[in-house]
Formats: sequence, structure tokens, C-alpha cells
Amino acid sequence: MVDKATTALAKASYDRCCQAPEFLQVFYRNFLAACPEAVPRFAGTNFDQQTRLLRHAIGLLLIFPNQPNKEPNLLARLAERHSRRDLDVEPAFYRPFVDALIDTVKQFDGKYSPTVEAAWRETVAPGVEYMKSKH
Ligand code: HEM
Repeated sequence: MVDKATTALAKASYDRCCQAPEFLQVFYRNFLAACPEAVPRFAGTNFDQQTRLLRHAIGLLLIFPNQPNKEPNLLARLAERHSRRDLDVEPAFYRPFVDALIDTVKQFDGKYSPTVEAAWRETVAPGVEYMKSKH
């Protein structure tokens, strides 16, 4: 369990970041620069649509720890999409993904602090672990 004050800190930070329309575009740029092995995966991607879907999905990731622990949960469909049965995103890709997300938060959140960073890491960890476990 992640306590509510921690998830609230991360959610408030995300809301501040989302006020900049380019936040997720910059995230993808940061992620793909840090993890060039992921570039070919996005060869056919429409990034306008992708950033809209990701905006919503990060919101899900941030509320995931506060959800009842039962299947199907709110990341089930997304986990299936990323699993070896579909996109086949190997678990090793998630660490650079989360690190790029935090780097981008650092760039965009005017109230960024080590406490905010720790809140992000703690809040997204259960959802990321869940997605990796479904690979
Ligand atoms: C917790 C982390 C992640 C979240 C929340 C997330 C979210 C999403 C969402 C919402 C979509 C669109 C869903 C759909 O097409 O039905 C998507 C697609 C995709 N994701 Fe992720 N993703 C995550 C991690 C990753 C990682 C680590 C990679 C590594 C390469 C990745 C690669 C892709 C690719 C290639 C697509 C398909 C893009 C396309 O349709 O062209 N994702 N992701």
C-alpha cells in the first residue's frame, strides 16, 4: 500500500506538469534519447494520439495503488497490450521509462523536490511491477 498523502503529492505534481501541453512530447523525446533500443518500437506511432492515451494511462498508474487488489484491475488491459502476446515490451524497458518520466517531471514541475520525486517513484512502483509481472 502507498499512503494517500504520497499518491496525492504525485498526482498534484502530474497536474502541474500537464498544464504544459508539450510535457508528454518532451517525455517521449527524453525516453527515446535515453533508451535508443525502444526507438524502432515506435516506428509507426502517431504521437498525437499516443500522448493523449499516455496522459490518461499515467493518471491510472497514479491511482492504481489506491484500488482494490482484485482482477481485472484498471491496468489489466494495458498490461495485456504490453505483454509478450501483443507489443512484447520486455520488463527491462520500464526502468528507463520511469527514469525519463521523472526527469521530465523535474523539467516541468515548478514545485519539484526530492520529496515529490520520492512520491512519484513510490506511487508508480506497484503499477509498473504489475505490468512487468504480466509480461
Ligand atoms: C507504466 C508504463 C507504461 C504506460 C503507462 C504505457 C502506456 C501506453 C498506452 C496508454 C499505450 C496505448 C495503448 C494502446 O495502444 O492500446 C501504449 C502503447 C505503446 N507502448 Fe506503452 N506504456 C508504458 C510502458 C511502455 C514501455 C516501457 C515501452 C517500451 C518500449 C512502451 C512501448 C509502447 C509501444 C511501442 C506502444 C504502441 C504504440 C503504437 O500504437 O504505435 N510502453 N503505452
